[in-house]
Amino acid sequence: MSKVIKNGTIVTADLTYKADVKIEGGVIVEIGPNLSADEVLDATGCYIMPGGIDPHVHLEMPFMGTYSADDFESGTRAGLAGGTTMVVDFCLPGPDQSLLEALQMWDNKTSRANADFSFHMAITGWNERVFDEMKTIVQDKGINTFKHFMAYKGALMVNDDEMFASFQRCAELGALPLVHAENGDVVASMTAKLLAEGNNGPEAHAYSRPPEVEGEATNRAIMLADMAGVPLYVVHTSCEQAHEAIRRARQKGMRVYGEPLIQHLTLDESEYFNQDWDHAARRVMSPPFRNKQHQDSLWAGLQAGSLSCVATDHCAFTTEQKRFGVGNFAKIPNGTGGLEDRLPMLWTYGVNTGRLTMNEFVAVTSTNIAKILNMYPKKGAVMVGADADLVVWDPNRSKTISAKSQQSSIDYNVFEGKEVKGLPRYTLTRGEVAIEESTVKTKEGHGKFVRREPFQAVNKALSTWKELVAPRKVERTGIPATGV
Ligand code: URP
Ligand code: ZN
Ligand code: ZN
Ligand code: ZN
Repeated sequence: MSKVIKNGTIVTADLTYKADVKIEGGVIVEIGPNLSADEVLDATGCYIMPGGIDPHVHLEMPFMGTYSADDFESGTRAGLAGGTTMVVDFCLPGPDQSLLEALQMWDNKTSRANADFSFHMAITGWNERVFDEMKTIVQDKGINTFKHFMAYKGALMVNDDEMFASFQRCAELGALPLVHAENGDVVASMTAKLLAEGNNGPEAHAYSRPPEVEGEATNRAIMLADMAGVPLYVVHTSCEQAHEAIRRARQKGMRVYGEPLIQHLTLDESEYFNQDWDHAARRVMSPPFRNKQHQDSLWAGLQAGSLSCVATDHCAFTTEQKRFGVGNFAKIPNGTGGLEDRLPMLWTYGVNTGRLTMNEFVAVTSTNIAKILNMYPKKGAVMVGADADLVVWDPNRSKTISAKSQQSSIDYNVFEGKEVKGLPRYTLTRGEVAIEESTVKTKEGHGKFVRREPFQAVNKALSTWKELVAPRKVERTGIPATGV
């Protein structure tokens, strides 16, 4: 069965032009005028874009004494409803668990995925087994990204020696390290002080991790990556201090990628103040929401290219789960949703306001991500041979975001009440229509794992890996005798 999308305007990261797109066997087989096929999807008045890729989600993740509430079924369904056709989730090995055992556990969660997915592997400790397994993860398992938490002390956090060892291993293997950049020691110390002083409400979460905590860790991770000779991807960049570090590194020619979240771009710290407990707790995430100056910095970074992509860090908890932290903000599960809303929110607040061009929108929601994570042009492209993961985007469709009509399983939405203009008419996952306006036609189990091969670290012209200066042994005479 072939399909053709007709009468639309193709928008890629580089080009805007009118053409039809023909699909067969889940891939794009032809792009051009007047194409025909067994089935026609009408795109009159719409843009045909690569489906969104969310490089940062946590589905059914064990965290802070519970599990994030959206699983691979509801999470990918939410993504598709908002034009996102692929997610990259984080596999987190437990204490003493091997990377391969953890990967098996994560793989077992995916059987009902409605859209394609991939994994980042977290390094949560360091030993010889981890060193060895990293090679298997990269070479056999098709995972070329490793995540390091510089926060969550006593749980997921790694120390600098562990992180540096892992960065060096990434450099050897042609893998890209990711960091959650917040100084976990400082956060722990500030949290203890706030609680001791009776600041136990959700607003204290924001006080416990100010922008400096993120700026320090971002700078540190960048310097460590530079010493290891490896590029770096900084997740959920939320503030000017972190952005500044990334900008500076990029100016020096280092490959450092920053990933702001749609939440930090559009919601600010006022969400934590003058609001009831549930409202504030539902918005507790790390890093916390910032003020307007930080938001302006993130938007400027997307416009200037110093920040590379927009994610959600979708890690949704119900109100009941958030209430684990009544009386102690440090027990509020950290995380917010956003998978369904990322594209409509970024279009509304980015494209409709003139901050981003449509092509930049495609770049930061899809194409840049596919390139950085090494799965382009299978994903992130409207190109013959690419997977037909597409969104037919209607710039005139609008709605008011509400938990009442969302796909996510939680009972609220952090964007509740926001008016968005720009929504999918169709979302296609490998050629199958999963969303037709507000009708959900997703198929459980359709989603497949996407392998991502290692980067070619040996090819200096193509790679971002630099030659490290080898220590030079000095033959010396005249060494003074000790103890004299
Ligand atoms: O608060 C957050 N961001 N929760 C999800 C886990 C993480 O740190 O990315
Ligand atoms: Zn994080
Ligand atoms: Zn995350
Ligand atoms: Zn299918």
